[in-house]
Amino acid sequence: MKFNTNTTLGDIVTAYPNAAEVFNTHHIDYCCNGGDTLGKAIDAINLEEDVIISELNDVVNRTVTADVTNWSDASMSDMVDYVVNRYHKRAYELIGEIQPLLSKIMRVHYASHGEELLHLHHLYSLLLMELDEHFAKEEASLFPQIKAFDLDKSDATLKASVITEVLEAESEHDAAGDLIKEIDAFTHHYVAPSDGCNSYKRTFLLMKELEEDTFRHIHMENSILFKHILDTYQS
Ligand SMILES: [Fe+2]
Ligand SMILES: [Fe+2]
Repeated sequence: MKFNTNTTLGDIVTAYPNAAEVFNTHHIDYCCNGGDTLGKAIDAINLEEDVIISELNDVVNRTVTADVTNWSDASMSDMVDYVVNRYHKRAYELIGEIQPLLSKIMRVHYASHGEELLHLHHLYSLLLMELDEHFAKEEASLFPQIKAFDLDKSDATLKASVITEVLEAESEHDAAGDLIKEIDAFTHHYVAPSDGCNSYKRTFLLMKELEEDTFRHIHMENSILFKHILDTYQS
């Protein structure tokens, strides 16, 4: 795939997953705004088009073709299984480690960083609630319906329900994405204070991983699985 400024961010990351590194570095939202063109995203930041294109070419040339899954050959059920086994599982692991660490550093560093940590704890709790409820909805309602629809595509009621819930899920991604961006900005891109202990640094490192993994997760859903469903079945 060749790309230019009219190519969407989602299509670029689908073809070249390493391109996400460039977008993350420049805080370009390729997941919730995966439908935006590269040109629109470049216009929104103070960087030359040539610089971004050259950085993208560098990572794209490093991309090993064998690592890129060709989702166009996969069934909707395969995509759902991949999302749950790869992304939901890792998010639960990260959240399970971040939660007690964040509580711990809030207590230990209350005297010097109480105000920031209270606000971070508040934002993270909101994100956790969003993700927890969203994952439950996908795993208990949307994904089983997608799998059932994959087996019987003639069921019009099921199709309508899948499309409704896909659109709801996309707007929930926007809400979670906005909270992640707020946390990213508030922590100055997860830089722990100079007097922060190892637990402080580890908390921020894990939060950064949760952010990057959630962006890849939303990209997989919005720009691959949900895009396939909406492009193929939404009338
Ligand atoms: Fe998900
Ligand atoms: Fe989702």
